[in-house]
Amino acid sequence: MLLAAVATGCATPGAGDHADLTPEAQAYAAHCSACHALPHPKRHSYPEWQTLVAVMEQRMRERGIPPLDEQQRGAILAYLEHNSR
Ligand code: HEC
Repeated sequence: MLLAAVATGCATPGAGDHADLTPEAQAYAAHCSACHALPHPKRHSYPEWQTLVAVMEQRMRERGIPPLDEQQRGAILAYLEHNSR
């Protein structure tokens, strides 16, 4: 895990190249597309996302996928906070 090579800003991830994605966007893409297509961040408000991520962690446990660690959850929620509607 080299997420410590942190980007400081909240650059909006481009639609294209993964190399352009912030570590937060990469965490989101890596952990939230395992079971279904990656949901667009504008699909929900940030409070809705907070609830949803908790539900999705429950789904991960049900399927025997390791749930998110603190750092992963923090990165994903930071991404959603900055990119939700
Ligand atoms: C272990 C498999 C799994 C993973 C990993 C997963 N999901 Fe899901 N997701 C589901 C299932 C199953 C549903 C269908 C609805 C339900 O059962 O809650 C779903 C539904 C959704 C929905 C639609 C819910 C709605 O009512 O609009 C969203 C949005 C979503 N997931 C977001 C995420 C996000 C964000 C992540 C990453 C943190 C994630 N998912 C990771 C299994 C997963």
